[in-house]
Amino acid sequence: MSLLRTSAARSLRLPALITGILFGVLSGCSSSDDNDDPGVDIPGDSGDPGTTVVLEPLPNPPLTEAPSADDEPVPFDSVFHTVTDYALVRDTGPRIEDDIVADLTEADYAAGLPEAVITVPAGVDPAINGAPYFEGLSNVRVEAGQLVDIRYVPRDPEGELPGMFPQGLPDGATFDDNFDGTKSLRWQTYQADLGVTAFTVVAVDPANSEYRSSQTVLIAVDPPSDPASVPNIAPSILPIARYTVRAGDPVSIFIIGTDRNGTVPSIELLDPPANAFLTPDERTPEWQILQAVPETAGTITFDVLTRDADDPALTGLDQIILDVLEPAEFERSGDRLKTIAAGSGIEFGSAISPVFYMQADGGVYESIAGSEFGVMTPESSMKWIAINPLPGRFEFADMDNLVSFARANAMKVRGHPLVWHRSLPDWVEETAVEDREVHMREYITRVMTRYSDDVDYWDVINEPVADEGGLRDSLWLEAMGEQYMDIAFAQARELDPTAILVLNEYDIGFAGPKFDALLSLLDRLRAREVPVDAVGFQLHVSSNFDQFDELASNMAAIAERGLDIHVTELDVAIVDDDSDQIQADIYRGIVETCLAQSRCKVLQSWGFTDRYSFRTGQTPLYLDRDYAVKPAYQALQESLGGN
Ligand code: XIL
Repeated sequence: MSLLRTSAARSLRLPALITGILFGVLSGCSSSDDNDDPGVDIPGDSGDPGTTVVLEPLPNPPLTEAPSADDEPVPFDSVFHTVTDYALVRDTGPRIEDDIVADLTEADYAAGLPEAVITVPAGVDPAINGAPYFEGLSNVRVEAGQLVDIRYVPRDPEGELPGMFPQGLPDGATFDDNFDGTKSLRWQTYQADLGVTAFTVVAVDPANSEYRSSQTVLIAVDPPSDPASVPNIAPSILPIARYTVRAGDPVSIFIIGTDRNGTVPSIELLDPPANAFLTPDERTPEWQILQAVPETAGTITFDVLTRDADDPALTGLDQIILDVLEPAEFERSGDRLKTIAAGSGIEFGSAISPVFYMQADGGVYESIAGSEFGVMTPESSMKWIAINPLPGRFEFADMDNLVSFARANAMKVRGHPLVWHRSLPDWVEETAVEDREVHMREYITRVMTRYSDDVDYWDVINEPVADEGGLRDSLWLEAMGEQYMDIAFAQARELDPTAILVLNEYDIGFAGPKFDALLSLLDRLRAREVPVDAVGFQLHVSSNFDQFDELASNMAAIAERGLDIHVTELDVAIVDDDSDQIQADIYRGIVETCLAQSRCKVLQSWGFTDRYSFRTGQTPLYLDRDYAVKPAYQALQESLGGN
C-alpha cells in the first residue's frame, strides 16, 4: 500500500516505487539484505531533485492496530525502585521476549546438515585457493541427559591446517582443544535443552584469515526415555555485576534463578541485613527483586540461596556484592556541565540508559544525570523494537518513565530515532515492500502523538547515508526510494510544527565520500522543501581522532545551508592504549570546534559513565565505571566554559 503523492504526480497516483525512480533513485531493485554496503547510486547535483511530497490521509482502519487503553502502563507502586523524584509506571502482560523466540523445528533438522557459508575476500580465487572445510560432520540427535560430543576436523585443499572458532556456545557447553588440530564441542544436555539447537563453527583459511567457511550443525535433543536417568543438578542465579552505590540510596537488583533442568528454583536471602528483602517482580513472578538501603560505606555481600523445584534439598549458593561509598565521594567539583554550556550559549546533555531506575546504582545515576544535563536522548527506549515489538502491541512504560525523569529535572528530550534501518522488530523487517510507507507513517504518528508535548528535537531520519557515499540500502529505501525521507519529515512536521527536525548521521566529522553524499542529499531535500532543521553529528570517535579542521569545515558547510548542527552522540573510544588524557584532549577539541561554530547549538554525549556505554570495553566516556571523574570530565568543564 502506498499513500504518497508528489504534487506534480498527484493525479497519477504513482506508487512510491515509481516516484522513487522518477527521482533517479535506484529503488525497489536492491535485492541485498546487507544494510551497510555498498550504497545506492544517487543523482548528480545537476539532476532534477523531484517535487515536494503531499501526504494523503492514513488508511482507516489502520494497517496495524493503534495503541489503546490496554497498552497504557500502570503505576509501579508495589516495587521499590532506585529513584525518588517521580512515580514510575510499568507495562502489563508477559515480557515480550517470551512471545517472540523463534525456534528451529524438526523439519529444519530433517533437511540435513546446513550448507557451509563461505566468505571469499577480494583477491582470492577459490579455483586456486580452495575454501577450508570440516571433515565428516552431520547433524546430531541425543536424548536429554546425554552428552553431545562433536569433533571438528578442519581441512584445507592446499593441505595446511585451518584455524577455527565457535560462534556462541549452547548454555553449559565447552569448545575444547584436543591439541591435535581438532576441537570438540562438549555439551551435557538436560530437559531445558529439548528441541533443535544450531551451533556454528567458523574455519579460517591458513593463507588468508578473511577467507572463511562457516558451518552450522543442528543438534536435536529429544525427551529422555527414562526421566530418572537425567541427573538433577543444583540451580543458581544469572550472574550479577559488582556495583558501586551511594550510601542512603535505595538499591534494587533483579535476581533471576536458573536451572539447567528447566525448572524454576525458589530464591532466598541467607542472613540478610536488617533492611534487605525480596519482592517478586510484578511481570515475571519467578524473578525476585532484592531491595535494600545500605546506610553506611563499606562492602556488602548478599548470600543468595536457590532451591531446586523438584528436590528442595538440592541448593545453589551465589553472592551479590555492593561497594557502598559515602555521598561525598560522588561529588564533582566546579559547576555542572549544563550550566557551564548555557553560559556559552549551547545546550549540553547525554543519552540515558533504558530502565536505569531499576539498576542497583540507579540513585547515583539519576542524581548525576539530573544535575549535569539540560537535554537527554533515550539511548534505546524509543527504538521501534522497544516501543512496538509486535504488531498492535505497545510498550510505553520505559519511555514514559524517562519523560517523567526529564520533566522532574527540567530537561529537554530528543526523540530518537523515528526512522532507522536498525533496531526494528522482526515483524517490520518482514513487511511487504508495498506496505512499508504506511507502516512507517503509522509508527511515526503513534510515537509523535504520544510524546510531542515532551520532545523538543526529533531525530527523524537516522543514518541514511552509506559509508562509501550514496544512500544506505535499507528496507525504507527499498520501498520508497529516497522519498522515504521526504515522507517522514513531512509527517513529522505535520504532527509537531514547532519541534526541531533532525537528520542524524555517523562518520561525518571528517572529509570523504560519506560527507559529500550527505551534502548532496541535503541539497536535494532542500530543493524539494523537505522540512529538515538540523543535522546531527553523532561523533562516535576514537582517541586517534585528529581531523578537527575537517570537522570545522563540515560544520561550516551545514551552517551555510541554513541548518543547525547538533552533536548528538559524542563519545571517544580509547584505542592503541592511549591515555585518558589523550581522550580528554579529543573531548576538548570537539567542544571547541562546536563553540566556534555559531550554528552548533546542542552537544550531547552518548552516555556518561563507562559502566553504561555501548562501547564499554573502550571506556569512551568521562566518568569511569564507578562514577569517578576522568580527565575528560574536567576537559568538558573547561572547554564548555571557553577555557
Ligand atoms: C545503540 C545503543 O547505544 C545500544 O545500546 C543499542 O544496543 C544499539 O544502539 N547510533 C545511534 C544509536 O543512532 O541509536 C546507537 O545506539 C548507536 C549508534
